Amino acid sequence: MTDALPSTGVHVSVDATDASATAAKMILDLVRSKPNAVLGLATGSTPTKVYQYLIRNQEFDPIDWSYVTTFNLDEYVGLTPDHPQSFHSFMRAELFEGLNLTEDQYHLPPGVHDDLASAAAEYESSILRSGGIDLQILGIGENGHIAFNEPGSAGDSRTRVLDLTENTINANARFFESPGDVPRTAITMGIGTILEAKQILLLAFGQRKAQAVKDSIEADVSKYCPASFLQSHPNVTFLLDEDAASLLNR
Ligand code: GLP
Repeated sequence: MTDALPSTGVHVSVDATDASATAAKMILDLVRSKPNAVLGLATGSTPTKVYQYLIRNQEFDPIDWSYVTTFNLDEYVGLTPDHPQSFHSFMRAELFEGLNLTEDQYHLPPGVHDDLASAAAEYESSILRSGGIDLQILGIGENGHIAFNEPGSAGDSRTRVLDLTENTINANARFFESPGDVPRTAITMGIGTILEAKQILLLAFGQRKAQAVKDSIEADVSKYCPASFLQSHPNVTFLLDEDAASLLNR
């Protein structure tokens, strides 16, 4: 890992491990300079190495996480927080337990609620009450989705419930026993919600993300590639490995 951290733009690392170490260092630097930082977090396989790095860092250069607040992007509708495939469970196992974050520090939209629309509005309010997200971590779907904002999502969309595409259901089937177990709806921060983060860090690794990465960065902004709306944000960094960057004009 280099000492100089990347600024806004596209940064291609030798591999996912190197990119993840860079992302983790950016998060650590933020929390060191702002102990009550508000982090936006993502699930999926892409950020897991970043989370491992943050946990490992506590062994040799510990920082105080007790003032940090986190907001996750999304959750499957119908899965309770203790369901093994819920994003709540994923985040507890991959990060929160390792950093000893308490339940009042982390937030995910609820997958089960009597009134999901009001829960979504309340999620937006709690982000605002926290002072807003300082640094939002994002992955990207093969179809260009960010969080669960599928193609067709508006650039000013807010936290809401929406139907997942077959592509996303199939891509996420690997986390479930059978494809039929994958929920077909989700509650997700909107693109407008994500764009309000002060800084955004999108990670993408592997050949299967290459077209979505190219469309996000080089194509016109379009609701058919939700990540392309990031072009309108003043502080976005794409951290890619060589495969994810392979279709970019460089
Ligand atoms: C899910 C999540 C996204 C994530 C995407 C990619 O759909 N809602 O936030 O970016 O998966 O997942 P992976 O990193 O496993 O490729």
